[in-house]
Amino acid sequence: MTNDVLILAIESSCDETSVSVIKNGTDIVSNEVLSQIDSHKRFGGVVPEVASRHHVEGITTTIDAALENAALTMEDITAVAVTEGPGLIGALLVGINAAKALAYAYDKPLIPVHHIAGHIYANHLERPLTFPLMALIVSGGHTELIHMKDHLDFEVIGETRDDAVGEAYDKVARTIGLSYPGGPQVDQLAAEGKDVYDFPRVWLEKDSYDFSFSGLKSAVINKLHNLRQKNEEIEPANVATSFQNSVVEVLVGKAVQACKDYDVNQLIVAGGVASNKGLRQALNDACDEAGITLSIPNPKLCTDNAAMIGAVAYYLYQAGVTADMTLNGNSGMDIEMMNQ
Ligand code: KG4
Ligand code: ZN
Repeated sequence: MTNDVLILAIESSCDETSVSVIKNGTDIVSNEVLSQIDSHKRFGGVVPEVASRHHVEGITTTIDAALENAALTMEDITAVAVTEGPGLIGALLVGINAAKALAYAYDKPLIPVHHIAGHIYANHLERPLTFPLMALIVSGGHTELIHMKDHLDFEVIGETRDDAVGEAYDKVARTIGLSYPGGPQVDQLAAEGKDVYDFPRVWLEKDSYDFSFSGLKSAVINKLHNLRQKNEEIEPANVATSFQNSVVEVLVGKAVQACKDYDVNQLIVAGGVASNKGLRQALNDACDEAGITLSIPNPKLCTDNAAMIGAVAYYLYQAGVTADMTLNGNSGMDIEMMNQ
């Protein structure tokens, strides 16, 4: 008998069915990720009903695989954690129902987790979070700056007023003819082009930590439209570089400014867009210059996975946070609801 806390975590908020076993909040014992991207490609984006059906098909085998690869059974597990929100409601409910069934059948505590808290704690699986810190969240659904003074203490100081950064990447990708999800392909193209279009940098009011990407997205679409009307040649790599430079300059500028204003030494970056090579490089350079310690997870832990949910759940377990069998999905869940 050991005192290890073994958490079986489930994530199903969007288009990945993932189940993981995490030991003591930091050790990944197993992490299974079943991606549905190929099914959604032909629609150019995630179709919620298709996502729910795939989760239903994949959840049981993914749970079995996570336990088998960990060489554990449900009897060995301390608690079951699951993403409560935000996300697609039908998709969330598949993971939540599976988690409730396991918790009930094996008499284990059930721990509800916020998806973005998970993205932040993906960093903790590689190196400890050191407080106070600033977290820059850049995903398909969220763009936020979150100040944390301690574990499970989230203060949103800025957020997007319209599109999320990943959403802008995917829309720009579509306009230059790339398939879903376009973010990684724009990233690749951006390394090959030149910033010839000089798209706007949207800083908003002085001192605001908020973001806005819809104007930039429209600027890109209008530029392409104009060029096409004039029958001028469009070089997709130049569009990608010009767009990415605009996004990266604002993200890095606001994140570094927030670190200085809040006097924090660690900047952590989280969410799918954190795997963007141009962003990683620019953050590295800016943090080096400003004397800020930067933490960005391995790209595999930047996109949706259950390991990150298990990492947060460890601290919720220590704080005694559990849910009962009435737990429901919360598609618009606020991260500050997690504060302890
Ligand atoms: O965090 P995530 O896996 O899912 C959400 O919770 O939203 O983020 C997915 C988003 C997609 O919009 C995808 O295009 C974008 O992250 N993404 C990237 C890159 N890799 C993924 N965007 C830009 N560059 C990348 N390398
Ligand atoms: Zn995510």
